Amino acid sequence: MKKMTSKELRTAWIDFYKKRGHVDIGSTSLIGDGTTGVLFNVAGMQPLMPYLLGKEHPQGKRLCNIQGCVRTNDIDSVGDSSHVTFFEMMGSWSLGDYFKEERTKWSYELLTEVFELPRERLAATVFAGNDSVPRDTDTAILREKSGFLKENIFYLPKEDNWWELERGPCGPDSEMFYITDTKPCGPDCNPSCDCGHYVEIGNDVFMQYERVGNSEYTLLEKKNVDTGWGFERILAFLNTNGDVYLTDLFEGAIKILEEASGKKYQENEDSTYSMRIIADHIRTSVMLLGDEQHLVPSNVGAGYILRRLIRRAVRHAKKLNISTDIFNKIAVYFIDDVYGEFYKELVNSKEFILSELNKEIQKFEKTLNSGMKEFDKLVNELSKKGITKIDGATSFKLYDTYGFPLELTEELASELGFTVDVDEFNQKFKEHQEKSRSTAGEFKGGLASTGIVETKYHTATHLLNAALKKIIDKNIHQMGSNINSERMRFDFNCDHKLTEEEKKEVEDLVNQWIREDLEVTKEYMKKEDAIKSGAECMFIEKYPDEVSVYSIGKISKELCGGPHVSRTGELGKFVIKKEESSSSGVRRIKAILIEK
Ligand code: ALA
Repeated sequence: MKKMTSKELRTAWIDFYKKRGHVDIGSTSLIGDGTTGVLFNVAGMQPLMPYLLGKEHPQGKRLCNIQGCVRTNDIDSVGDSSHVTFFEMMGSWSLGDYFKEERTKWSYELLTEVFELPRERLAATVFAGNDSVPRDTDTAILREKSGFLKENIFYLPKEDNWWELERGPCGPDSEMFYITDTKPCGPDCNPSCDCGHYVEIGNDVFMQYERVGNSEYTLLEKKNVDTGWGFERILAFLNTNGDVYLTDLFEGAIKILEEASGKKYQENEDSTYSMRIIADHIRTSVMLLGDEQHLVPSNVGAGYILRRLIRRAVRHAKKLNISTDIFNKIAVYFIDDVYGEFYKELVNSKEFILSELNKEIQKFEKTLNSGMKEFDKLVNELSKKGITKIDGATSFKLYDTYGFPLELTEELASELGFTVDVDEFNQKFKEHQEKSRSTAGEFKGGLASTGIVETKYHTATHLLNAALKKIIDKNIHQMGSNINSERMRFDFNCDHKLTEEEKKEVEDLVNQWIREDLEVTKEYMKKEDAIKSGAECMFIEKYPDEVSVYSIGKISKELCGGPHVSRTGELGKFVIKKEESSSSGVRRIKAILIEK
């Protein structure tokens, strides 16, 4: 096994692919387009979706990069040795060029020649097939031909060996694993098991399909390969027995935390847990503040996740009994020593990052102590009565008066064996929001970074999506969207150019809904409930457990971070300016809103 620094690993990945005709396309923003329902980039392939669906990429058919990603679905697992919220995905793609033969050969070369892993320690999984897609025997044969031992190749079902997002390019995949010294947990132990015997290294996806409905797929014209291997995971596994926080990416941050707290990393469970949370959350916050889109903390969407990360880190500083002054030092370490070289915007916006971070820390520190007192008082009272559930009024007060994100109250509660009545919290939240909306006439906190014109276009986007479903095809879904103060752009799956008549009908229907002055409402719900209620969304599995759902009258219901206007009557008149092809099977509408 080859020891490598993070810089060496970066170079090794890119060089390997450059030698095989790939162009390094670099990393793009971590933040998804707010209007598509995607809060963050969750995989290297996400920014490449149009090209995987057939559009020609300006840099060719063989691409590679190391893409920053943020996944917040297992934010609660951060604190162990391997989970992180920001991570980098080492990627490479064939856009209709090479396929399984080259892919399997190169993966084996990377594993054995670049990472120097012994053959008998390698395992691979392959798609077992189902009613609609055959078993991927080709890949199994090729994995064996490349060098994998036959007994270490496993056929697994769709849950394990199929890559897809809510819509878009997808297909069977084949993952690679390292077999550790940890004993298998039983006779049926296989790579899908998380007992620790197998550690995942990377994933090669053979994208031959497009997901166009929940269980509807069409065949793509061209076959692609989407390869994504986890940077942190590989680095940890090569160098530190799987502990991400001991790699050179985190080294300096952990050292600062050790010095400040007077405790050694891994000296005791609680302080190690807090150190990891602070290191991870500050790293992700730095990357989001310093992203080309410069996210800032807020009460909605991606901004709310950022707020949660910073506030949770502040709380863990209190637990460790250290001053949050060192967050600044940790942020500087990530910018100057680790990422600045690769993410230039971090360097350009260093002052902005540090000042926004400090602002958010200070805002929360002003109320944290009194909020904690309130919390302790309440828990004492409840304990006396033998109650272990915190009611909605209290958790809402902690949120509204003391700035405690609900998740933070839940974490505090669970440490003491308490739970929080989330439904009641949501009810209070909704009541409060309705009150503040009727007095202020707009969403509280929602408009900080989005102008009123853009807000109108957000709402118009939902109306257009609903109208297309009604007039053209109920299976139409949003494939992409872009908004500025001048116009909106909306991409959707559709197999034909819209006729003049269809365009007019869609436009008329949107305008009819505007005239009806429908109410726009927002609810917070559990993700499962949102899906059950029929709310539309892309990439559902990448959302946090708690989501916001916007409804417009009875005609539209979508998962979305917002913001939106309160009534459709505010939109003026909707005009379609252009309808054109965006990529194979995807059409694009450009539209504007004008004063009536
Ligand atoms: N898109 C694939 C993944 O994220 C490579 O696993």
